[in-house]
Amino acid sequence: MRPRRGGRNLPGGGRIHPDSGGRSLAETHAHDQPGWRQLLPDEGKPRTGAARTTIHEVFARPGDQGMTASQGKVALVTGGNRGIGRGIAEALAADGATVALTARDAGAAEKAAIEIGHGARGYACDVRRPESVAALFQAVDRDLGGLDVLVNNAGVGLFGPVAGMSVEDWLTVIETNVNGVFFCTREALPRMKRRGGGYVFNVSSLAGKNTFPGGAAYSASKHAVNGFSETLFQEVREDGIRVTYLMPGSVATDFGRGSAAKQDWALQPSDVGEMVVDLLHTSPRALHSRVEMRPARPQKRP
Ligand SMILES: NC(=O)c1ccc[n+]([C@@H]2O[C@H](COP(=O)([O-])OP(=O)(O)OC[C@H]3O[C@@H](n4cnc5c(N)ncnc54)[C@H](OP(=O)(O)O)[C@@H]3O)[C@@H](O)[C@H]2O)c1
Repeated sequence: MRPRRGGRNLPGGGRIHPDSGGRSLAETHAHDQPGWRQLLPDEGKPRTGAARTTIHEVFARPGDQGMTASQGKVALVTGGNRGIGRGIAEALAADGATVALTARDAGAAEKAAIEIGHGARGYACDVRRPESVAALFQAVDRDLGGLDVLVNNAGVGLFGPVAGMSVEDWLTVIETNVNGVFFCTREALPRMKRRGGGYVFNVSSLAGKNTFPGGAAYSASKHAVNGFSETLFQEVREDGIRVTYLMPGSVATDFGRGSAAKQDWALQPSDVGEMVVDLLHTSPRALHSRVEMRPARPQKRP
């Protein structure tokens, strides 16, 4: 059984939360949520494996009582073919979601989806182009029937002093990291509202609060993601849509000039995936709007 923070586990998978006054999480949610709610332990498919609640249970809506764990909620991860997005896509799929992931190349997306399994689907999308994003969401509607979770992960890092930065590099960073988040979120919101709620994760960075020479474009883009996210959650919270922006420090990927192989001290993509899944498992009553993540034991500077 996977350890959970606080509380105690109940036989059959229910769980007593430390602040619940003795009620299980399932009971707490069932009473508190006007829309989506957590299934009671004896609703839906009997559990045979780990006692941990699944995304299906956290996101269950009234009338879903008959659904089984295999009837997945749909999660779209941009840039889910590699790096952090891949870690998130794998974690979501392992937790029972039906994952749609994107890469710029259709073959790369489809290959990653096959490797992840669990019914994952791969799609080509350039998040800088609104028409490409619109086509992606239409394809997900067609293939998977809607959307419950959006992970705005696709991003690039191009670094250099402002005085020497080309207009092209500046635009690449801003258009991918900021415009892309807007284009995808704009498509996702009406779909989530139609389903009664949802969850938007925006992958920002500690560069969204810490600045450094050479990081102007990247840092500006992540500050923008933070501001976008904080505005967004205020706009959609009453629709049952939660918004979290994640601010990882160094993650072992090929991002920028990094090398996934060398960074054994860094966070791993799976750490970010685990955080996304953990946040999905939190009470819909709580909004964890901003999450900072950093290596516990970072490499010491010489
Ligand atoms: N690695 C870190 O230390 C770190 C730390 C904090 C935050 N982040 C953030 O985490 C996110 C993922 O980074 P990563 O480290 O996983 O980088 P990565 O390994 O380089 O992966 C980047 C992903 O973004 C996709 N992408 C890039 N440009 C795109 C575009 N125009 N349209 C659609 N997809 C595009 C890539 O797709 P292709 O395969 O098609 O290129 C790839 O899937 C980024 O937002 C980054 O800013 C990274």
